[in-house]
Amino acid sequence: MSSDIKRPSKKPAALLLTNIRQLLTLRGSATGPRRGTDLSNLGIVEDASVFCLNGKIVSVGKTKEAVRDPWIRKNRKKIVEIDCAGKVVLPGFVDSHTHPVFISPRLVDFEKRTTGASYEEIAAAGGGIQSSLRDVRQAGKSQLAEKVLQFLRTIAMQGTTTVEVKSGYGLTLDSELKSLEAIRDAASHWPGTVVSTLLGAHIVPREFRNRRKQYVELVCREMIPQAAKKKLAQFVDVFTERGAFTAGETRKIFDAARNHNLGTRAHVCQLSRTALLELLELDPASFDHLDCVSDADIRYLARRNTIATLVPGANHFLGLRNFPPARKLIDSGVPVALATDFNPGTSPTVSMPFVMSLACTHMKMSPAESIAASTINGAWALGLQDRKGSIEPGKDADLACFDVPDYREIPYWIAANKVVFTVLNGVPVTGCEIAPTGDS
Ligand code: NIG
Ligand code: FE
Repeated sequence: MSSDIKRPSKKPAALLLTNIRQLLTLRGSATGPRRGTDLSNLGIVEDASVFCLNGKIVSVGKTKEAVRDPWIRKNRKKIVEIDCAGKVVLPGFVDSHTHPVFISPRLVDFEKRTTGASYEEIAAAGGGIQSSLRDVRQAGKSQLAEKVLQFLRTIAMQGTTTVEVKSGYGLTLDSELKSLEAIRDAASHWPGTVVSTLLGAHIVPREFRNRRKQYVELVCREMIPQAAKKKLAQFVDVFTERGAFTAGETRKIFDAARNHNLGTRAHVCQLSRTALLELLELDPASFDHLDCVSDADIRYLARRNTIATLVPGANHFLGLRNFPPARKLIDSGVPVALATDFNPGTSPTVSMPFVMSLACTHMKMSPAESIAASTINGAWALGLQDRKGSIEPGKDADLACFDVPDYREIPYWIAANKVVFTVLNGVPVTGCEIAPTGDS
């Protein structure tokens, strides 16, 4: 990694946020991911305070109680205090689906779509994912790590404190491991939390076009075992789609992941329908996209903890008229999360509030549902529900402060960034610096 990358900012031992107009705690989510009407329950405290010590949340309550607390009074000089008057504080967003390990934006694809070409037509003509492979294969690890770190710094300034990051633009053993190492290196320079996913099964690369079985074997017998052995990934993802991998191939890849103690997740039902029951038996952490999921599969999903992660940024950017069926999923009892799907082909946005806007406008989710789907249910999608996604004593100090008086303004102001500061594992960040007052 190049020397101009700074270490994460210092963690102030004690941090006190006071005078918060609306604190969205999302408390009480321990028993399972949020479903149905529970998705609207934000656990709001007004005139609130949050006290954090050594990167953990210690207490949550009213400001007047916090300032009377004997320990806080005695140690006031040692505590970094931030006055959040008139503002909203909520758990940092958990963006559970991103692809930032790429070098170049896909501007040719973008321009072609403005003349009417579809995502699949562009991919069939050699654009799409295939066209992102060459420069990732050629790039050095540190160049990729710089790209990922730039992404991590940007999302922190947009309210995201935990993120899942996928490989998937190398698609050789070496370049997938290089991508995962770049994620690890970038993560070590960022105070937030990164979960890594091996997406060796993104597409069958051109050189394996007539040997797809061998490519699946490469993923199962080399990529997964090596990523697991080197502890470079927590999850394995598959693009289960027409033009990418079949359900049968996905099953094989899931089996290999399980044999190496890695979790599983898959892109499904984005462009074409896949029957999900057989894959659900392997308990994937999430199924993502789900635009054309069947009613029967919605009923199966409603009985399980596999999270339906909806990524409407992709529908927006591809100019599609239809969006994922959020209402049907939520009303049927399926636990739903929202994520950016940040990637160069279908969703070049890092903004969770923008995705929440899309969810409210095009998918008829309420602002409250969009917040729970971006915090606590995102945490469930990554298996981090014990540490992330709500503001409760004992959880990691991951917070986002917005310069709005009412949380509904977060998805309301389209494409605006109203974040004042975020706290990532106890480290307050605004821009690239430590936030407001205090002596740390
Ligand atoms: O989630 N579907 C696969 N992955 C991305 C698209 C990746 C790309 O086009 O580069 C998605 O939409
Ligand atoms: Fe994706």
